[in-house]
Amino acid sequence: MTTTSRKRWVDYLILGLLIFLCFCLLFESHISPPALISWLGHWHPVVLHFPIVLVIIAVVLLLSGKKVSYVLLSISCLAALITAISGFFLGLGSDEKGDLLFWHQLLGAAVAIGMSIWYWLANNGYAKSTVTKGLGLVLLLMIGFTGHYGGMITHGQNFLALPGGTKTDIIPDNPLIYEHIVGRILDAKCVKCHNPNKTKGEFLMTSFEALLKGGESGANIIPGGPDESEFISRLELPIEDEDHMPPEGETPLDAGEIEIMKRWIALGASDTLRLNHLESKDPLAILIKEMMVPDPLEKWAQLPGVQDSTLTRLASDYLTITRIAASSNALRIAMYKPPKYDITTLTRLKVISENIVELDLSGLPIGKDEMHMIAGCKNLEWLEINNTPITDNDLDTLKVLSNLKLLKVFETDIADNSLDILKNIKSLEQLYIWETSVTEPGILQLKKDRPDLEIFSGINSELKTFFAENDTLAIKEKTK
Ligand code: HEC
Repeated sequence: MTTTSRKRWVDYLILGLLIFLCFCLLFESHISPPALISWLGHWHPVVLHFPIVLVIIAVVLLLSGKKVSYVLLSISCLAALITAISGFFLGLGSDEKGDLLFWHQLLGAAVAIGMSIWYWLANNGYAKSTVTKGLGLVLLLMIGFTGHYGGMITHGQNFLALPGGTKTDIIPDNPLIYEHIVGRILDAKCVKCHNPNKTKGEFLMTSFEALLKGGESGANIIPGGPDESEFISRLELPIEDEDHMPPEGETPLDAGEIEIMKRWIALGASDTLRLNHLESKDPLAILIKEMMVPDPLEKWAQLPGVQDSTLTRLASDYLTITRIAASSNALRIAMYKPPKYDITTLTRLKVISENIVELDLSGLPIGKDEMHMIAGCKNLEWLEINNTPITDNDLDTLKVLSNLKLLKVFETDIADNSLDILKNIKSLEQLYIWETSVTEPGILQLKKDRPDLEIFSGINSELKTFFAENDTLAIKEKTK
């Protein structure tokens, strides 16, 4: 072959590929790829490195005033075209195109078209013209952005972001239900198909606002109405149903995770709700705490054993006893106000006092004897005695509880003397104390003395309606 006939042959090849690429771009929606074409698409990640390197070398030579050889130029041009076409085939395999893929493809095609124009210019006497140099500069920029978007597609949005700020696996002590619990489940099981790049069903789940906005068929989370929420019904469909989420073949949500979603929606699907806003007996609080203790068996291994029969004997219609985790000896106890209050229901619990880790006696007419029973629960971490007639003297009994982390004493008669007692419970992390007889200066002093203690003293109106609604929900559940 002579040089000119070889040149002409390359010209035709480039022209052919260029036309084919433009055809692909224009008629994309009508193309459904046969298996062979999809297979060709899989070569995209292999071939794409050639044009990147070759085009950059060619542009650098051009801009520094050196001669760009015909061989280098034609090979770069062919490599760019083949890469764009194979990338296009690869893109056909993903059934919905996100913004990232759109821009990546468009810029990639623009690089290939730009190279073809350069090839033509160079062969028609404009090898070193200003237009050619300008084109080289634009090509360099476009290669950069194409690679950037490509990297984001394969490695995630933050591929080129600086290290740091990555999510940790640890759930903080008093987690935000949406951010730390619900969001974590969505990230693990849903976001891979519902993100800005791949927004299946036009449903974006990467921000709270988008989640509540819903998708194609509108809002699918109805705050307060889990049973009316399509979001929930999709999780609960039989796995083989084609509307089930996530689709068959993906890891589905487990029963606990579905319960978390339902209860979070039932409580209003809020993004400000925290674990400690919930009562300890709230099903959501229980589920979350199970998630938070990585290995409850290990944490409570040293507790004395309790038989199930003992628990059944001590429990009643108004007193629930549950294990913090199955087969753990740590117990959570909640008592509701019976029509006729009998103190022995509580004092009988002495036999299992070491096992009680969470205790909810809110709303009961408790007094001195009950407080002594509580003081005997040396492993107690979470105590709710809000809305009870307790006073400073009663609270004094609690000073022996060296593991107490959370205390709810709001709407009681305690006064500033109690603050001194609480100050000295070193393990205490959270205190809920509004509508009592304690004074504002008293609280300020406690804050100063115990900067590590989180004090919830003024109840804001949002929290108040939340508690009110939450109580009615709890009551509804009880009467079910
Ligand atoms: C493997 C990809 C994939 C995963 C993972 C996935 N989805 Fe989907 N999702 C889709 C597709 C495809 C559609 C659109 C088709 C449809 O409506 O069934 C969709 C649609 C939806 C819709 C309907 C949106 C609307 O308005 O029509 C909801 C709700 C939904 N998904 C929830 C979820 C939840 C919750 C999860 C995580 C538990 C999840 N999806 C995980 C692929 C996925």
